[in-house]
Amino acid sequence: MGKIIAISNQKGGVGKTTTAINLAAALAAAEMPTLLVDMDPQANATSGLGIRKGSFTRGIYHALILGEPLRNLIQGTDLEYLKVAPADRNLAGAEIELVEIEGREHNLRRALEPIRNEYEYIIIDCPPSLGQLNLNAMAAADAVIVPIQCEYFALEGVTDLWDTLVRIRRGLNPSLTIEGFLLTMFDERTNLANQVVSDLRDFLGAQVFKTIIPRNIRLAEAPSHGKPIILYDIKSRGAEGYLKLAREVMENDKKGAR
Ligand SMILES: Nc1ncnc2c1ncn2[C@@H]1O[C@H](COP(=O)(O)OP(=O)(O)O)[C@@H](O)[C@H]1O
Ligand SMILES: [Mg+2]
Repeated sequence: MGKIIAISNQKGGVGKTTTAINLAAALAAAEMPTLLVDMDPQANATSGLGIRKGSFTRGIYHALILGEPLRNLIQGTDLEYLKVAPADRNLAGAEIELVEIEGREHNLRRALEPIRNEYEYIIIDCPPSLGQLNLNAMAAADAVIVPIQCEYFALEGVTDLWDTLVRIRRGLNPSLTIEGFLLTMFDERTNLANQVVSDLRDFLGAQVFKTIIPRNIRLAEAPSHGKPIILYDIKSRGAEGYLKLAREVMENDKKGAR
């Protein structure tokens, strides 16, 4: 049965979508059947994989709110083993519509259940909020990856996040595990970034991935070409980072949960 990993952090601009796209692509490149579920109404993961607005009629909204089989809206990508459940414009409204639905936090989990065994990994890109869409992702997930940008206030945000995770485990999803905290946009030339990394490692210990994602312009360029980094520039340091992350995720799964 596929492992469901949510990429979540209530803060925007920390590298969630970049991680969702490129980790999913790197897992697919290792011939792991992978599904990327775009739960952000901004649909950046969808467009970043070259799926244009208007090129499809059904998105994740239709599964979440209208109860259509998720299978019916899955799209292929340039990578044989990577599929996408795209986000469409309606998804912004789902945040409010879900509030009225009984058992609403579990709609995504229910939608994923019938297709789960067809994938090795299901990666969910979360919106930067703590609303119903994020809660649905956290309720559906087996594990969460929390990207953290290597910047001055990083540690402060982490304590808030920690509280959120504790609350979710007490209520919505007691079996949710932390796959890892992922340090992103690391610039090795600055003392600040090095200091942030060492503080976070002190604070979070072994829950921080060994892999650190470097700041790399190629990662920022790739989405406008509708490609994951491994198809846009396989030799870049960004591609190297996400291939390494995928290996670390697969290794950890072999060893059992951390
Ligand atoms: N490692 C990186 N190096 C350079 N730019 C990055 C990197 N990771 C993300 N970015 C860029 O930073 C911005 C925010 O990243 P994004 O993944 O969209 O964050 P989020 O989904 O958390 O809002 C985007 O413009 C993205 O292209
Ligand atoms: Mg995003």
